[in-house]
Order: sequence, then C-alpha cells, then structure tokens
Amino acid sequence: MKTLIVYYSFEGNTRYVAQLLAEKLDADTLELEPVKDYPRGKASKYVFGGAAASLSAAPELKPYVCEPEKYDLMILGSPVWAGRTAPPLNTFLKSHNLRQSRVAAFACCAGGSTERLFAMLEKNVGGLTARASFIDPASHREAAQEEAARFASVLLRP
Ligand SMILES: Cc1cc2nc3c(=O)[nH]c(=O)nc-3n(C[C@H](O)[C@H](O)[C@H](O)COP(=O)(O)O)c2cc1C
Repeated sequence: MKTLIVYYSFEGNTRYVAQLLAEKLDADTLELEPVKDYPRGKASKYVFGGAAASLSAAPELKPYVCEPEKYDLMILGSPVWAGRTAPPLNTFLKSHNLRQSRVAAFACCAGGSTERLFAMLEKNVGGLTARASFIDPASHREAAQEEAARFASVLLRP
C-alpha cells in the first residue's frame, strides 16, 4: 500500500506523529510550510494563529510536489487550532481534490475536541477511512505510540 502523510506542524507534535506513522506504514511524508510563519510568542501565537484558523485562512505555502493519484492512501495530519484545521491544511485541500482518494486523518490537540476538525475534513474529502486524535503527543509519547499503533493497524487491515 503506497501511503503519503501530508501534515502541518507548528510546534513538532504533528511532525512527531507523522514520523511514527511513516515508520509503521512505510509511508512517504510531506510537511507543509507556509511562506510566512506564524508568530511564536506565548500569547501572539494564539491570537494570530487562532484568528487565521477561525477565518479558514489559506496561506501561501512553500513550493512542494504532490501527486495524490500515485498513492493508495492519503493521511492528513493537523494540529487543532481554535477547534479547526491549521490554515496550511486549508491551502493544501484547496489545491488538491481528494474525493477520489482513500483518506484518513489525525489531529493533535491540547485536550480540546477534535470533532470539528474531522467534520471539516470529512466535508472536504467526502469521508475518512479512519481517524486518530492525540493530546500533545511529543510530551505524552507512550499514549501517542499506542494510538499510532491502533491507527496503523486499522489502516493496514485488508
Ligand atoms: C493557534 C493555536 C490554537 C490552538 N487551538 C487549540 C484548540 O482549539 N484546542 C486544543 O485542544 N488545542 C489547541 N491548540 C494546541 C495545539 O493543537 C496542540 O498543542 C498540538 O499538539 C500542537 O501541534 P503541533 O506541535 O504539531 O503544532 C492550539 C495551538 C495553537 C498554536
């Protein structure tokens, strides 16, 4: 099964899960990077990032190559921002129609709900094969590894 994991990570948690999954699924990875980074101050990141997510912003991304039709499975990964997808994922989804692809998704949060994010993705891609939620996985590695193993086993099921 040829798998591509497309993700955005602001502070490393989503990247950590993407790497766990890439090892388990022998998948390729594509990290999305906005041309203009978000402020990294303790408060300013929530103000600017949260506002951008609430407005469903779609920032310009650094150039990348992605051909979803070459993959049997696409996995989307995003941190939860104001309950929603982080904006770089919005840009990716505007640029690629995944309705013909098999798509799964995972979300990283700090303990809030991931439901709205998954609902946004489902609406966009027309349904998710599987989903997984992680709470700040880079600091909760044991729980993250368990959830990644569960998610991977669902995806590997024939
Ligand atoms: C702008 C911003 C908004 C956030 N909004 C939420 C939220 O609504 N709910 C939540 O549980 N966590 C929220 N978080 C926390 C992140 O989703 C969480 O720490 C996640 O693991 C970060 O992933 P990353 O390290 O890949 O960026 C927010 C973080 C940022 C920077």
